[in-house]
Amino acid sequence: MDLKSVIRTIPDYPKPGIMFRDITTLLTDARGFRRAVDELVQPLAGAKIDKVAGIEARGFILGGAIAHQLSVGFVPIRKKGKLPYETIGETYDLEYGTDEVEIHTDAIEKGERVLLVDDLIATGGTAMAAIKLVERAGGDVVLCSFVVDLPDLGGADKLRALGKNVTALVE
Ligand code: PRP
Ligand code: ADE
Repeated sequence: MDLKSVIRTIPDYPKPGIMFRDITTLLTDARGFRRAVDELVQPLAGAKIDKVAGIEARGFILGGAIAHQLSVGFVPIRKKGKLPYETIGETYDLEYGTDEVEIHTDAIEKGERVLLVDDLIATGGTAMAAIKLVERAGGDVVLCSFVVDLPDLGGADKLRALGKNVTALVE
């Protein structure tokens, strides 16, 4: 089964001109969801991941499943104002606006090896902000994993140029 066949495209969402790659159809498909999680977990043998950090909102679903499979803890990186304890935040530009993400200051132990997970990388603004948060919290982002990379928007290359390992299942 081809993962691309279970990802749908919604034109002009959330703004005119944006081709929104909607992975909810992949999540609904039992074989698609399992295959995506298995393919993201497969290259991690020997990577000694201590924690998975998932980016709200769809990074929670994939990251939670991956953390469970690796038997490690999960750290939510949330949109501003959603985390109840002490936080640090980073603002960033999106393909369609600006936003801010936060992490709890005590979510990661110093030197922990962190896998960053989201459904999709476009401009890389969200992932860059999340990497900064994990590193400010004391962690080391050893790999950034996505189901979808939109290569024309350059985000994955931006992360690689900073020395980060990036994997994506489909372009
Ligand atoms: C989407 C996607 C990534 C981000 C990628 O989330 O899930 O988190 O955009 O874009 P970037 O690489 O250009 O930063 P979105 O911001 O739409 O938020 P949502 O998960 O709350 O829908
Ligand atoms: N995040 C940024 N650009 C996106 C797109 N085209 N589809 C889905 N999520 C996105």
